[in-house]
Amino acid sequence: MQSPDLAALRAEYTREGLDESDAGDDPVVLFRRWLDDVAAAGIHESNAMALATADASGRPSVRIVLLKGFDDRGAVFYTNYDSRKGDELTVNPWASAVLLWHPLQRQVRIEGRVSRMDAAESDAYFASRPRGAQIGAVASRQSHPIENRGALEEQVADAKRAFDGRDVERPEQWGGFRLSLDVVEFWQGRADRVHDRLRFTRAGEGWSRERLQP
Ligand SMILES: Cc1cc2nc3c(=O)[nH]c(=O)nc-3n(C[C@H](O)[C@H](O)[C@H](O)COP(=O)(O)O)c2cc1C
Repeated sequence: MQSPDLAALRAEYTREGLDESDAGDDPVVLFRRWLDDVAAAGIHESNAMALATADASGRPSVRIVLLKGFDDRGAVFYTNYDSRKGDELTVNPWASAVLLWHPLQRQVRIEGRVSRMDAAESDAYFASRPRGAQIGAVASRQSHPIENRGALEEQVADAKRAFDGRDVERPEQWGGFRLSLDVVEFWQGRADRVHDRLRFTRAGEGWSRERLQP
């Protein structure tokens, strides 16, 4: 099979616009409205977001995580604090995330600083996960190399045995981060690449809003 000619792939964005009167003054309200649109459109894993971190020398890395909460305090995701991203966020708490909702021709970018969630909040979310995912979190030293799949499955079996007949406890190296909303930018695709971009930047108690060229 032939690979696609990447340079020839081209989509037109003509669904709708995003104007200032529609966007309002509060990016949290607008984000929630876009989440409703995403739910109505039935987009698969619509809470997947790319999360960029950087190490102490400024070298970036990016991966997908699932957005598990969003309000004025920030965007919440869960992970292993001893993972590569966890290590990077420990030395450099500045991060950036982007969500892409392709069928709606929309993206949202977030920039801010992460903080670890309270143990109680992480406990509550961990308790809500399916048991298999809880065991997986106990068993995996995320981002660390392992000899082969068999060794990983042994670690899973060990974790299952350790919690046989009782609730799985949240490992202390597993929990939530909250990415503060310092900057939130909404992008709506428009015809001929003349897209709409509205960027909200936190200003005291409120927000300043500006339109950016596409
Ligand atoms: C759709 C999707 C959702 C994911 N969700 C998470 C998540 O919520 N938390 C997480 O730690 N990793 C998640 N991952 C795995 C990460 O992309 C990544 O492989 C892992 O966190 C290790 O990243 P790191 O080595 O940069 O720390 C997800 C991957 C995909 C493709």
